Formats: sequence, C-alpha cells, structure tokens
Amino acid sequence: MIRSAVRGIGSALPRRIMTNKEFEELVDTSDEWIVQRTGIRQRHVASDDETTASLGEAAARHALENAGLEPADIDLIILATSTPNNTFPATAVDIQARLGIHHGYAFDMQAVCSGFVYAITTADLYIRGGLAKRALVIGSETFSRILDWSDRTTCVLFGDGAGAVVLEAVEGEGTIADRGVLASSLRSDGAQKDKLYVDGGPSTTGTVGHLRMQGREVFKHAVGMITDVIEDVFAKADVTADDLDWFVPHQANKRIIDASARKLHIAEEKVIITVDLHGNTSAASVPLALAHGVAEGKIKRGDLVLLEAMGGGFTWGAVLLRW
Ligand code: ACO
Repeated sequence: MIRSAVRGIGSALPRRIMTNKEFEELVDTSDEWIVQRTGIRQRHVASDDETTASLGEAAARHALENAGLEPADIDLIILATSTPNNTFPATAVDIQARLGIHHGYAFDMQAVCSGFVYAITTADLYIRGGLAKRALVIGSETFSRILDWSDRTTCVLFGDGAGAVVLEAVEGEGTIADRGVLASSLRSDGAQKDKLYVDGGPSTTGTVGHLRMQGREVFKHAVGMITDVIEDVFAKADVTADDLDWFVPHQANKRIIDASARKLHIAEEKVIITVDLHGNTSAASVPLALAHGVAEGKIKRGDLVLLEAMGGGFTWGAVLLRW
C-alpha cells in the first residue's frame, strides 16, 4: 500500500529574538511570571521584511535541500497558517511562485494551532489517493502582526516562524513497521469559538483584528482534548505510549505539555520541547519542534513519532508516523 513518508525537513526563524525581559518595558509582567506559567524564555519576532510567505519559502527551501530534491519535484503545497500575507490569494500560491513552481497546485489550510496536524493529514490523503506524489507541507506564522501588544495575557505567549516537511509516496507493507503516516485523528468544536479568536476579518469588521483568548478556559480543556485524540491514534495503530520514540506536541505551554505526557504515561525524555525558545508559533510550532528534534540528532529514520496540537476553534488532532 502507498504511505506518505517524510523525505526532508526544514525550518526558518525571524532574525530578531525577543526575550521575556523586553516585555517588562511594554506591559505589567515579569520574566519570572512568564517562565513559571508557560515555560517561554524567548520568541522570534518578524521584522518588516519578513512575512509568512518569506519564512514559509525559507523553511520549504531548507526542507527541499534536506530531501535532496528540487522545487520542480513538488506537485502539491499545503500551507497551514492563520496569518496569511493577504486575505487572498492563498499564501501557498505565493510560496509556489517564490519557489518557481508552475505545475501542480497549492492551497492554505486554516485550523489555527492545529493547522500543521490538519495539513499533514490532508497531504497524506492526497498522496494515498493518487492526487499527488510529493507534497510540501508547511506551517508558517507571523502572529506578532495580530497581537494586541498592550494585552499582557496574550502578547507574551506567541512568536513567529516556519517549519516544513517534504512528504512523498512510498510503498509500504500496510503494517506499523512502515515508514510514513500511520494514523491520524482530527476534531473540532465550533461551540468553543469564542474562547480563542481574532476580533476582526474581511466579512465582519473589514480589518485584520487582534487575537483574544480566555487563557484559563483554553487551559482547562487542553489536556482532555489532546489525550482524547492521542488515545484514538494509539487505538487505530494498535500501539501504546511505550512503543513511541518521540512525542512532538504543539508548543503552547510547558505545563500543558507536561500534564498531557503524564496523563498518557509518555516518559519525559521522549518529549521534544521548544516552547522555551520559540513561544507559541501556532501552525509552525510542530514542524519547528520536529526540525529541532532532528537537528539535535534525537529523531532518526525509523523512529515512531507522535504529533499533537490544539488551538482556536477549538480544533485539535494527532498524527502518528514513522520517521
Ligand atoms: N504577566 C503577569 N501576570 C499575568 C500575565 C502576564 N503576562 N498574564 C496574566 N496575568 C495575571 C492574570 O491577570 C491573573 O491575575 P488575577 O489573578 O489578578 O486576575 C493571574 O496572572 C493568573 O492568570 P491566569 O489566566 O489564571 O493564569 P494561568 O496560570 O492560567 O496562565 C496562560 C495563563 C499562560 C495563558 C494559560 O492559561 C495558558 O497557557 N492557556 C492556554 C493557552 C493555549 O494553550 N493556547 C493554545 C492554543 S493557541 C492558538 O490556537 C492560537
């Protein structure tokens, strides 16, 4: 059977690093509060010349180089983002043009922080359905552009960046020993849309708007939702936490990550953590953490890797894959 296997991975971060200390000048907060409540120590913030498209392009080029491929080898681009360069066209087609690709097709996917998990699941189905052979799946965000920089409850939490993988069709045996995506589980519940949203848009205010979040409410739901979809992929693939080599969760808050790992009996040393370095980069957080894990020599070919994310909507999901 056809599997969608990761052939390459890349990432890109804005040049400017902003430490917690710098926020003490902007709002009533402290490095101590931010570290203790979230685990975040710094984040990257895009300069005027850095956009979701330019960061996505850089991550994609890095992933292609890592895969030993040329842009022409790609026939599908899915970009997970909630901070596109323009309302339309999709920023994915902008990246397609920047890469000089004139064939195939490209589109954006909007599931906020769960975007990359949704996008990899979608690309896997396109590949297994025969509609694509090699896909670039990118998560790229510039949340700094939609933050209310006077709101201490949100502005300290987010950062900018991009990560990308090249997925390609390979022959598998149909067992969990295969490389590639093995199981996915996606969920959403729009009844919770007011807990985390942006207060503007083209069809309502005609503005871009700012991010608003009831942090405590999101926190309350997070661990339960995350563990639900993970237990679902474990059941689908007939594996347990002991079979995992790496857990690569969405990097929103270290306390949420720790509580989820504990509840699922995933050993601490199997968890990839980048929230301290990147903050919450929404759809870019999982591919950035994957790229970090690979660069550190942790995630290796053949490893069983679990991805997870939850975010605005609410949306949430998990993907199990063999690297
Ligand atoms: N500095 C200092 N104090 C602060 C700050 C800050 N930056 N932010 C809030 N506070 C204060 C609050 O005002 C509150 O004060 P009060 O008790 O006088 O009212 C106090 O700190 C405690 O606030 P809580 O909201 O209860 O703090 P909590 O421990 O819940 O941490 C946080 C807040 C970090 C936002 C947490 O709730 C969280 O991580 N929530 C989940 C976020 C998340 O996972 N998002 C994922 C998806 S993101 C996406 O999809 C785009």
